[in-house]
Amino acid sequence: MATNRTFTMIKPDAVKAGNIGNIIQKINEAGFRIVAMKYTKLSTEMAGNFYAVHKERPFYGELVEFMSSGPIVAAILEKENAVADFRELIGATNPADAKPGTIRALYATSIGENAVHGADSDENAAIEGNFHFASTEMH
Ligand code: RTP
Ligand code: MG
Repeated sequence: MATNRTFTMIKPDAVKAGNIGNIIQKINEAGFRIVAMKYTKLSTEMAGNFYAVHKERPFYGELVEFMSSGPIVAAILEKENAVADFRELIGATNPADAKPGTIRALYATSIGENAVHGADSDENAAIEGNFHFASTEMH
């Protein structure tokens, strides 16, 4: 099966900066199909659960506070090799290390406030997609 799915969020910094449109345009231009999308806000509890895998990391508290600080856009995207290709499109976690033209190079401001999330495996893409869209009809 060549075509698969990934999960993304446009993070609060990019929403606040007015970059939703720019980022969706980059996603479309890179050949991803939007399967589900919503504008929403995470409570601190939801953000804590979503990033529970990072619980022991020193930046966890900051990350949870940031991800619940304002609205986000959550989406499920479809493309051949979706997870790896999307990680390529968004660039390195730290925008200082992100390749020119990647979403983080263009729109992230720091390693913490880095504009977008991208799932890191097919398994996590499915878990994260269900977290946000469990009862949503997919198209
Ligand atoms: P993401 O999960 O959001 O797509 O980012 P990633 O895989 O590139 O990076 P990951 O290691 O999973 O870290 C998750 C998010 O935590 C914040 N972070 N802050 N202050 C720091 O040193 C630090 N390190 C990571 C970032 O928002 C990162 O995207
Ligand atoms: Mg990650």
